[in-house]
Amino acid sequence: MVQKVEKVYEGKAKILYTTDDPDLVIQYFKDDATAFNAAKKGTVGQKGIMNNKISTKIFEFLASKGIPNHFEKHLSDREMLVKKVEIVGVEVIIRNRAAGSLCRLLGVEEGRKIDTPILEFCYKRDDLGDPLINEGHIQMLGIATPEEVATIKKYTLAINDLMGKFFDNLGLELIDFKLEFGRYKGEIILADEISPDTCRLWEKGTGKKLDKDRFRHDLGNIAEAYQEVLDRVST
Ligand code: TMP
Repeated sequence: MVQKVEKVYEGKAKILYTTDDPDLVIQYFKDDATAFNAAKKGTVGQKGIMNNKISTKIFEFLASKGIPNHFEKHLSDREMLVKKVEIVGVEVIIRNRAAGSLCRLLGVEEGRKIDTPILEFCYKRDDLGDPLINEGHIQMLGIATPEEVATIKKYTLAINDLMGKFFDNLGLELIDFKLEFGRYKGEIILADEISPDTCRLWEKGTGKKLDKDRFRHDLGNIAEAYQEVLDRVST
C-alpha cells in the first residue's frame, strides 16, 4: 500500500500528493467548481466522489481498449492513485456538436452537428485565459514535439470513437470533451480526469444536459446530473 507524503499541487478541482513511490501520485477530487477561467466559483455536493468514480470507470474502459493512461487504482472516495507524469501544456478538446466556446467563437447555434469531429488545442495559461492555439504555436512555444502532437491527435480521435459509443450505449450523447496528456518514461499517456466537469453529455431523446453546463449556466440540479451519469456508467 503506497503512503501519501505531501501536497505538491492544488488546482481548481483537484489536489496532487506525492507518495513513497516516486513513479506514483495521488489525485484528490474536490467538490469545488469553477467556470469561465474561475470568474464563477462554487461547490457541488459530493462532486469529487462522483468524478473520482466516473473517471475510474472511463480510464478502466479506455485501458481495456488499448489507450495508455495514468490510472492505477481507485484508493478511496476522493483519491485515485495515478502515474506521475509531466503534463503536456495543452488542453485537447474534441467536438461532435457545437456548444460552449465554439458557439461564441463562430456564432453558430448550440447543438449544430459537426460531421467531422473538430480537434482543438488550448494553451494551458490561466493568465491568458487558456487561448485557442494551433500546431504552429505548439512548435513555436516548444510545448510538444511534432511526433508527440501526432500521438496526442491519434489517441484523442480514438478516444472520441470509443467514448462516443460507450456513452451512446448508456443513452447519452457525447457532445464534446477535454483531455490532458502527460509524459511517462518517454511515452505520451492520457492523464488528468474524464468526468462531467470535462465532458458535455446530453441525454439522448430529451437533450437534457448532464454535465458542468448546469453549474456554468445556473440550470439547477447539478449534483443530480452528475449522479445520473455515475448511475449510468456503473450499470
Ligand atoms: P468550451 O466549449 O468551454 O471550450 O469547452 C469544451 C469542452 O472542454 C467542454 O466539454 C468542457 C471542457 N473544458 C474543460 O474541461 N476545462 C476547461 O477549462 C474548459 C474551458 C473546458
